[in-house]
Amino acid sequence: MSRLLYSKDEILADHPYAKAHVEAGYRLHGGFDDKGHYISPRTLHRWPAIHAWGNALKTRGHDLVDSSQALMVRGSFPTTEQQKFLLDQGLGQTLWDSLSVTGVIEARGKNLAEATAADFQSIVVEDISQTATGHLNKGLLRAHGLDEGGDASRGEGGHDAMWFAVRDMLFGKHAYPHAVVPDSLARPEMGRLMPQIPPEHERWILLLMNVLMIEVRAENFFNFCTAVMRDPRNFRDRRDVAMHAADLVDRIRQDEAPHVGYLTVVVSELRSFTFKLADGSTVKGASFIDPVWRGMVQWHSVANVDFAREQTRLELEGLLAKKPNGQDLIRQFHSLERKEAA
Ligand SMILES: [Fe+2]
Ligand SMILES: [Fe+2]
Repeated sequence: MSRLLYSKDEILADHPYAKAHVEAGYRLHGGFDDKGHYISPRTLHRWPAIHAWGNALKTRGHDLVDSSQALMVRGSFPTTEQQKFLLDQGLGQTLWDSLSVTGVIEARGKNLAEATAADFQSIVVEDISQTATGHLNKGLLRAHGLDEGGDASRGEGGHDAMWFAVRDMLFGKHAYPHAVVPDSLARPEMGRLMPQIPPEHERWILLLMNVLMIEVRAENFFNFCTAVMRDPRNFRDRRDVAMHAADLVDRIRQDEAPHVGYLTVVVSELRSFTFKLADGSTVKGASFIDPVWRGMVQWHSVANVDFAREQTRLELEGLLAKKPNGQDLIRQFHSLERKEAA
């Protein structure tokens, strides 16, 4: 039986690295073993712990919720063929902007490092000390925040710096102005969704589900990035650099896996727990969590993706329209997507 109880220091512990992680002038988190393989930061105990909590949950007769790429029913836009077309048209700034915006959004995740989750033990019947939920404030949120936004006290950049490194490698520093982060679609105000539990606990369940879906969507963008960078028809004058940038994106992807991992286990544990209600009765978490999770998945995988897609379409059409044969280019751009879909 794998261990289920960890100290905060253990959850935050790094592997001993043979070599530090430095790219494009940025000192970054994580490191390499003596064979040159990248090792994600703070995963010495965190990864085995996440697997152990997930297995323990299954042993208790519960499934993990689906947080796979199968949820992303819409393909990426632009498609990889459309991005190639944009690069060919000298519109590298479109990819530069996507990479910059991703870096800025990653940096926002740093808030998790200082956050304290609601005390779930106070409203759950079962002892949760040996679960992922019981470790949210024992290193899991802190490790996640530091992964995203870096650890300034150690002079280490996180994913924000890694995306900027990828961008600078591909295009050169200051190749274009810094991107403006577009407005995202605000989740509609729907009042209390889980009135069975206190507002503070509801807020935390929604936050954890929301972050989980942001992570699932990000993974979709990683696949797009590495496909564009590894395509031999792109960045033809700097293939080595583009291949190396793709490796860096793969390191970010590797770091993200424990985020999807622990959040999936936490959401799954919450639905398995028995909750104490104010009137002294109890209720199974799944009864009020499942509909909310379904709504969150739908929100991120369809509503939000469609909104972002429409914004991007208008922006890209605007750029193409400025070219001498703009209307023709716009037609070509859209036909590439139909070809790929077919
Ligand atoms: Fe990240
Ligand atoms: Fe993440």
